[in-house]
Amino acid sequence: MLFKNLEELGITKIDYLISSHAEQDHSGSIPDVLERFPEAKVVTNPKCKGFLMDLLLIPEEKFIEVKDGETLELGDKTFEFIYTPWVHWPETMRTYLVEDKILFSCDFFGSHRATSHLFVYDEYKVIEDAKRYYAEIMMPFRVHIKKNLEKLSGKEIKIIAPSHGPLYDNPEIIINAYREWISDRVSNKVVVPFASMHGSTRVIVDYVVDKFSEKGVEILPLNLIKEDAGKLAMELVDSATVIFASPYVLSGIHPMVVYAAYFANALRPKIKIATMVGSYGWGGKGLDHLKGLISNLKVDWIEPVLIKGYPEGEDFNKLDTLVDTIVEKHKGLGLM
Ligand code: FEO
Repeated sequence: MLFKNLEELGITKIDYLISSHAEQDHSGSIPDVLERFPEAKVVTNPKCKGFLMDLLLIPEEKFIEVKDGETLELGDKTFEFIYTPWVHWPETMRTYLVEDKILFSCDFFGSHRATSHLFVYDEYKVIEDAKRYYAEIMMPFRVHIKKNLEKLSGKEIKIIAPSHGPLYDNPEIIINAYREWISDRVSNKVVVPFASMHGSTRVIVDYVVDKFSEKGVEILPLNLIKEDAGKLAMELVDSATVIFASPYVLSGIHPMVVYAAYFANALRPKIKIATMVGSYGWGGKGLDHLKGLISNLKVDWIEPVLIKGYPEGEDFNKLDTLVDTIVEKHKGLGLM
């Protein structure tokens, strides 16, 4: 498709190929482009050059290195290179087309949306897809994104052209969304990733869902057997609390819940409160080690409620206490 488009545009010579990121969804076709346009030089930063040499075996003489803030003048067009380390690899950079005020933002501000529309036409849908993109790819680098967003201030931007999803001709919508996602603010929201085998854990989840709803807290149960991990990542972007819910199986936590905890730990969301609920038959030892799986998260850990068998009587009182404790903490955070 790239070559077909170039042919249709009548491009017979390429002098410069700007590489903003060495990950192969951005760089994989560079060897083919260099083969077809052997006079082309790859313009990039030293780190990206190293990665492209390692990952794609591009010879060193094919590169032109640029520094942070350096420009490339092409007659009436000026490209300014802006390093954006750790958004989301160490070598990532953006390119600003000075005359047209277009920011080629690479993965930054991208969305998981394949569309024939060149520009955003449905802001709500695109921001949802951009939130998923942020959650899955950018969230662990929240601190770095803050610094790189600051680098944007003072630049007039008419269009943001990310490498994924449609272009933003109203850049403020995605810049403001990012500002919110990377802020320390959380919502009055609880996410409950859960798995249930024989229905006991499901009863526990349904019970706390009703209780939180009654108390005016948004609650999102996520059945890990049915939902994809990206949905969990999205909900972790701004939820205040996560409650993992698992039955006892094979000497411990259900594998899908272990996976959810591992994933959450790797994504490092700004979640404030965490706990666990679950059901066991005769063992139960091992359910309580979930806290150790989320050691990256700076959370207020609430004592889990682990129930023997199918919940009954006193068990619901314990769940009530858990819900009340979390509600009070949400109040303490100024969320309600
Ligand atoms: Fe970091 Fe679009 O790949």
